[in-house]
Amino acid sequence: MSTSDLGQLESQLLKDIAAATDLAALDGVRVGALGKSGSVSGLMAQIGKQPPESRKAFGAAINAVKSAVQAALDERKASLEAAAVDARLASERADVTLPVRLGPLGEGRIHPVSQVFDEVAEIFADMGFSVAEGPDIETDDLNFTRLNIPPEHPARQEHDTFYLNHSGEGARMLLRTHTSPVQIRTMMSQKPPIRIIAPGRVYRCDSDQTHTPMFHQIEGLVIDETTHMGHLKWVLEEFAKAFFEVDDVKMRFRASHFPFTEPSMEVDIDAAAIGKPGRWLEILGSGMVHPNVIRNCGLDPERYQGFAFGMGLDRIAMLKYGIPDLRDMFAADLRWMRHYGFNALDLPTISGGAAG
Ligand code: PHE
Repeated sequence: MSTSDLGQLESQLLKDIAAATDLAALDGVRVGALGKSGSVSGLMAQIGKQPPESRKAFGAAINAVKSAVQAALDERKASLEAAAVDARLASERADVTLPVRLGPLGEGRIHPVSQVFDEVAEIFADMGFSVAEGPDIETDDLNFTRLNIPPEHPARQEHDTFYLNHSGEGARMLLRTHTSPVQIRTMMSQKPPIRIIAPGRVYRCDSDQTHTPMFHQIEGLVIDETTHMGHLKWVLEEFAKAFFEVDDVKMRFRASHFPFTEPSMEVDIDAAAIGKPGRWLEILGSGMVHPNVIRNCGLDPERYQGFAFGMGLDRIAMLKYGIPDLRDMFAADLRWMRHYGFNALDLPTISGGAAG
């Protein structure tokens, strides 16, 4: 091949490169010239077949063509890429004034029990409580005995307990009937001062419009050296105001009995808090932790004291959000979830109101 033929090949290739209007076309030109069976590659293969005296000059000429073509390819590629980015930016320009499209996030729903737990946790976190947890399957010892409910105590009958099959050896296991065993677990594993809430599922063999065999409670426990009933009242009042999003909640503390608290009180709120004045609504059980319970956890009741409370999460969710039937909470009915469920982005915060 003569020098002028080479020159012609080069100028043809440079023309083709300049004419390529997109990256795919440009790559076609590259393959046609520098690919395995490309025109320039073919010439490279002939270098060795040249007579020795002209081999060097021939090789140099072809390499010059190759470099020129390669440089032109690189340059064209860079400019086509830049043009492609410009075109994409122009076509995909975001109109930030459009409303947010939630996609699947907007379809999903947070169950009212989860939402209410988040609200409660947010309120107590603000008062310095942390969240503790315990297992659904408990020992008889933690669910009853250490809570000052010894075997044969009548309170055991009231709980309608689900027992697990018992082989006759080892501890008798059951589905916890309340979240109070988390009090025990916490006192046995942490040093006072203790300030926890413990949410979870609890189980009782019971079913009608206001009872389901599984429901949710939230336990509270404070243990310190000077904690007294005034603290209990204050904490519960602050909680009720924040939770029901009202400036004032009238509360009634009724004397009651739980084996693990002394004294014990059931707490009612004036239904004015949910816009229905003239009725009292029971929301929780509470009391000062019984010295026996503190002792059962290896702490000295002469030194430590405190309060505990246990609240039905489902119940306060129903009160706050006007849900009529407890059983619907666990029916997994999508229509119900669409109606009573919460948007995934509706995170509860104190500043935004508990419901966000
Ligand atoms: N565990 C009690 C119940 O399930 C509630 C409670 C908790 C009462 C803590 C007092 C203190 O009914």
